[in-house]
Amino acid sequence: MLPDYFEFSLPTRVIYGIGVINSLHDAVAHYGPRRALLVTDAVLVQTGLVERVKAGFARTAIDIVAVYDQVPPNSTIRTVEDCAALGRAQHCDLIIGLGGGSVLDTAKVANILMVKGGSVAEHMGAYLLGQTRLLPLFLIPTTAGTGSEVTKVAVIADPDHDVKLPFAETQFLPDLAILDPELTRSLPPKLTAMTGMDALTHAIEAYVDKEWSPASDGLALQAIRLIRDYLLRACAQPNDVQARGAMLAASCLAGIAFSHSMVGMVHGISHALGGVYHIPHGLANALVLPEVMDYNLDSRLDRYADIAEALGVAFPRPGAALENLLRYSPLRFAAPLARPLAGLDRWFRRKAAQASIAYVRRLNQQLAHVTGMSLNLRDAGIQDGLDKLDQVVETAMADGAMLYNPREPEREAVRRIVQTLYATTVKPLPTSAADLRPAVATTQVQELRDVFPDTETFYRVMGGFFERLKIDPQIGGPLRDSQLCVQFQYAQPTAVLTIDARGEEVQIYQGAAFTGEPEVTMSMNADFAHAFWHGRVNLVSALTRRQVTAKGNVPKTLRLLPILKPAYALYPQYLAEVGMADKVMR
Ligand SMILES: [Fe+2]
Repeated sequence: MLPDYFEFSLPTRVIYGIGVINSLHDAVAHYGPRRALLVTDAVLVQTGLVERVKAGFARTAIDIVAVYDQVPPNSTIRTVEDCAALGRAQHCDLIIGLGGGSVLDTAKVANILMVKGGSVAEHMGAYLLGQTRLLPLFLIPTTAGTGSEVTKVAVIADPDHDVKLPFAETQFLPDLAILDPELTRSLPPKLTAMTGMDALTHAIEAYVDKEWSPASDGLALQAIRLIRDYLLRACAQPNDVQARGAMLAASCLAGIAFSHSMVGMVHGISHALGGVYHIPHGLANALVLPEVMDYNLDSRLDRYADIAEALGVAFPRPGAALENLLRYSPLRFAAPLARPLAGLDRWFRRKAAQASIAYVRRLNQQLAHVTGMSLNLRDAGIQDGLDKLDQVVETAMADGAMLYNPREPEREAVRRIVQTLYATTVKPLPTSAADLRPAVATTQVQELRDVFPDTETFYRVMGGFFERLKIDPQIGGPLRDSQLCVQFQYAQPTAVLTIDARGEEVQIYQGAAFTGEPEVTMSMNADFAHAFWHGRVNLVSALTRRQVTAKGNVPKTLRLLPILKPAYALYPQYLAEVGMADKVMR
């Protein structure tokens, strides 16, 4: 059954790729020349990530003219105002946020001040901007958890009044979200665990909340599957860039999901624990999540059973299995005989739903073993014997997230959950090899930059290589048989090579020497062509990434397939022959 009404939209373009920060040119080209304000924090300056991102943008028309690097772990009104003042003083017309949730939220709210002026408090609230257009915004997460790069919310602290100011604006959805797993590699294991549990909480709350929709369901369940497979691995093997990438994708999917269906009581309580006791958001969620799942269980039994399946905790359904077995066999008339087993199926579904809670508890214990993450509120920093319990309960009960919880949150339940988490003595649990799954060996392709210093060198090398293809005994024949005319247009350095195989003999033309009409034109960077002839790139994905643009009857180029393998073998040899052995990709 579907909800009566739902909405779904994602105006943000999301690009993902290992090292994608180095090839932004096409993704940002249509913004034209801009003066950008980069918003980040001091740690990211120290770890060198800010320099890497600046180097990535240096190859585009976006000029980073100002860097605000003073965002604290919980951004404040003052932070946002200082940040916006810098952007205005430098006449910035684009904002780039690089960091965790606090940095990205700062970039979002600073954008309002840069365009509309005024104070932060003046703009607090939901959907006050109307049709106001803000500056283009690019968000680059360096943690995998908040999903802030795809949400229309931001939270800024008001330390003078001990409250967090919530903002929600459609204009917060950035124009571009850049997901590069390389940028999350330096995130310490404990933070990886806590932010990852924030993402899992987003996905689970989005799936069970009152505002669920089929669109957010799909995203939430896939996020849960990715977290199941990769969170422990990303913590135990921080350099496993595949695990990092999967977590970044999971965080983004969960972010889109909860941006539509909202979060619930877990967030209500953890916002309060953050506000009153400064417990980190991800950690508070990790601890509160299984308690609230338990509280909600009966109101969403089937949905928690689905979550168990997504977590890989499968339980048998003997009734359904027997019915299917009979229905799709010659004995189909006997299928109704399986019906009495339906009660058994329901019993197993309940067991599965309960298992989803046990799974999350066990995951917390394993994360504690791998990363030292706290398992109770005493270790998490509450040292006053829970003196402010009443304040936590009242703050939680007044939190907007409570509205979306599937079961009415009761004051007493909130109190009991916080007390339980304070008193618990649960211990870390060692992980097994099976929990971590073997890391996939990821060989990083060596990246070469500016292989050809000028057009002349390019023509000498690549033009010479094409001439060699013509006369190679394995390649020349199939090339002639292709009867194809393809023009390659290169950038950095600029050059044009045309192969015309339509006549008796294959002709290679340099630059403007070819005056006809090619059947297919392919444009790319010279460095890309260099990697291509090593057989190191996937052309289909290069087309998706706009590393190559193709014009004309592209399927016709399939006729060139027979020459590719021998050409890949020939190119490194040829480079050595022409004195460029140092440019051969290893
Ligand atoms: Fe969260």
